[in-house]
Parts: sequence; structure tokens; C-alpha cells
Amino acid sequence: MQDQATTPDATLRAMQAIVGERACLSGDTDTQAYVTDYRRIYHGRARVVVMPSSTEQVSRVLQWCYANNVPVVPQGGNTSLMGGAVPDDSGTAVVVNLSRMNRVLAIDTINDTMTVQAGVTLSAARSAAEAEQRLFPLRIGSEGSCQIGGNLSTNAGGTAVLRYGNMRDLVLGIEAVLPDGRIYSSQRGLRKDNTGYDLKHLFIGAEGTLGIITGAVLKLMPQPRSSAVAFVAVDSPAAAVRLLGEAKHLSGQAVTAFELISQPALELVLEYLGNVAAPLPARHDWMVLIELTSGTDAESLNATLMEILESGFEQKLVVDAAVAASLSDAQTFWRIREEISDAQTRTGGSIKCDVSVPLSRIAAFVEEASAKVLALEPAARMVIYGHMGDGNVHFNPLRPKDQTAKAFLAQWYEPISSLVDAMAHAENGSISAEHGIGVVKRDDLTRYKSAVELELMWQVKQALDPRNLLNPGKVLPARGH
Ligand code: MLT
Ligand code: ZN
Repeated sequence: MQDQATTPDATLRAMQAIVGERACLSGDTDTQAYVTDYRRIYHGRARVVVMPSSTEQVSRVLQWCYANNVPVVPQGGNTSLMGGAVPDDSGTAVVVNLSRMNRVLAIDTINDTMTVQAGVTLSAARSAAEAEQRLFPLRIGSEGSCQIGGNLSTNAGGTAVLRYGNMRDLVLGIEAVLPDGRIYSSQRGLRKDNTGYDLKHLFIGAEGTLGIITGAVLKLMPQPRSSAVAFVAVDSPAAAVRLLGEAKHLSGQAVTAFELISQPALELVLEYLGNVAAPLPARHDWMVLIELTSGTDAESLNATLMEILESGFEQKLVVDAAVAASLSDAQTFWRIREEISDAQTRTGGSIKCDVSVPLSRIAAFVEEASAKVLALEPAARMVIYGHMGDGNVHFNPLRPKDQTAKAFLAQWYEPISSLVDAMAHAENGSISAEHGIGVVKRDDLTRYKSAVELELMWQVKQALDPRNLLNPGKVLPARGH
């Protein structure tokens, strides 16, 4: 039980004394945007929303909360799809929003690293790298809002994982404030450091349950000199996987993105965008968006793309293809892909499963899981899309057009998400490939993590956050659940 001896007023005054009056919000109206999740499913309450401007201020905030047993919810751009960044409705938590810690502190073009505060948005980080002719390769649709701290806390993935890896692969060190206010730092920019446990990885993907990430040293890559993009209709998911193999074989490291898009996903997003034409003239059940990038010239990269497509046609993997003839074509293809998520949020009534299985099983998984869902609800729109190249698909059955979101979710959310997750698990897959756990998937972990894994997770939590004050109720199911 938490000791709530401190009143909301006393908390507000204490926070104001640390960060200044203008960096504290209280009251239901002013805090609303910070207590409602991105998909507007969770509506919590906060005692105070506090916006520190330095690591030292974060440390003092956490010290005070620790001493007074006040729970803390860390928050970046609040783009979690799992309700991971908002407080519950008890009104007891202090939300620590990192938006004001938004400075790029240093770029070292010899070490190829960038040191940032956690509140830098992903797009600002990418732009800062670009200004120095470097690439920070993480690419996700919410890059204008999501922040590096949140990207790290959720080990964000996105559309370039196939080439560059997850956020975990893109960081050399972090700074994090522990629940009692102590500061951990490994921001030395080293690519080699085998001096015991690599502690930064505890905080990456922990969704703010072990500490608040306040800064990071990120890896920078060479900027590609050319890119080639195609929107390709394929015969089946299995044909898509074979085409990916062909693309890897013919282009070496150049395949940067390989995104699957089902016909209902395309139809939904085109309806949502309104004024964007379908990239291909005919209707196809399955499509892939392929992007190659390289340090060579555009001509030879385009030739490689054509070679891949020709080989695909010959082997009857490819049915039709539109190659982007300009930057604007490529941007349109990408817009179609990246807006699928918002199109679903706007439509309402989608069962968002985010699963991964080994690449060798992904095609069969997609076909078999689709058949099972359609056997339950034949009119469900099978919005399936995402990062097939790394074995991760967003498998999101959507309500039939003539059903309300409420009715569809009430009847099907539980049976369909359990079915899809169980099928992924049976294929050695994951029930959350890149969106994390938050509150949405928390209790499901009891079914899909082993007793040993759960016990270790609890022991780590206990060691770092013995009072269970950091993002309580997220990620970890209750012990003995
Ligand atoms: C995406 O790939 O578009 C994102 O993971 C968001 C989503 O699936 O809703
Ligand atoms: Zn995704």
C-alpha cells in the first residue's frame, strides 16, 4: 500500500519548488492531454504533470516522490499504443513529461555518435544527424511526436529494423534516473566495453518501470547516397517471403524496408487519405513496399531493383509492380504505408495484434491465422501490414463496415486477440513484437512468459524499484497472478 500522507497541494508546491511554477500542470483540464493515451482508450488522472528541464531536476523530483511514496509515470511523446505512458485513474501519480529536455547536446562526426536529451523528438534527432551528413536510422510513423527516451524505453522498431536493427541496436549508452533519484550513466560513446553487466539494456524496453531515461548516446550511420522504392503486388505472403530472399541475394545489404500490405489495409488507408491514388491499377490481395538504399549511385541501385522485380516476375512471385520514378512517388508510397495506423484509429474497432514469428514461418502464420479469424467473423476486414522483412506483422482484424466498434470489440476482442497471440506463441513467436506491453498486454504475460522469466523480471524490478513507484501497473503482471 502506498502511504499518501502528502496532499495534492503539497505535491504541487514541492514540484513547483523544483521545476518552477510554469513547468507544473494540475487540474483535470490542464492535465487532460497528458493523462489520455494516444488511441484515446485510457483516461487517467494525475496529481501533477511536471516538466523538468534537466537531469538534475528529474533526480530531485524522483527523490521527493521516493521519500513520500508517490508513484511516478514517465512520459515522452505519449504515442504508446499500449497505454504505457499514462497514469491510472486514481489521481495519485506524478507524470514526469520529458518534452522540455529537448536538446541535441553533441554530435561527434569522428566517433559517429550523437548525444541527446531524452525529450528530443525522433524527427529532430534525424534532422540533426542529417545536418551533419549522417543518418540516424530509426524510422516510425510517429517520428514527429515520439521522443528518443520513449523510443528507448519501448525499444522501438519500425520500418528499417531489417537493415539497422531496433532502438537497442542503435544506442551506445544512456543516462537514467533511478526511483530514489540516483543517476546512472553510461554515456561514453564506446563501441566496446566488456566490463561486467551491460546495465543500459535493463532500462531499454522496460517502459519506464525501472528508471527514467534522461539522455542517450546514439549511433550514427553513413547517409545513403541513393534509394529505390517499389510498390509490388505479390502472389501470396509466401511469394513475398521468397521475393525478400531474392532481394537479399541480389542486393546484399541494400534491402532497408520490406513492408507487407493486405488489400483491406490498402483500401482503408486510401479511403482515409481521400486524394491519393492506388499505386497499382488492379486490385491485389497482397502487396509489399520495398526500399533499397545504398552508398552507390542511383543508376546501379535502380538496376538492382529492376533485377529483383524481373526475377520475381519470372518466378511468378510478382504480379505487378510500380517503381517510384521520383522522390514524390516514393513519398506517396510511404505515406500510404505509414498512415494505415491512423486510418485504423480514425475508423475504430480494430483488434491490434503486433506479433512476430521466425521469418520462415511468417507466411504460413498470416494465412492460417487469417483463415481462423475469418471462420469466426467472415465479414472482418483483415487489415494486415507491417514489417514482414523482420518477421513482424501488425495483424489487426477490423470491424465489418456495418458493425459498430463497440459491438465488434465487445464480441471479438478477447477471442480473436487470444487466438492470434496463441498461434504466434505456438510458432515460437512473440505476442508483442515492437509495441511493448503497457497495460494492454500485461496480464497476458502470465500465459506467454515462463515462470523463470517472470520471476527474473520481478527480481529485477524489486532490486531497482523496491517500492514499486515507477510506472506502477505497467509491464509486470501481479506476482502470483
Ligand atoms: C506501424 O508500423 O505503423 C506502427 O507500428 C503503428 C501501428 O501498427 O499501429
Ligand atoms: Zn510497426
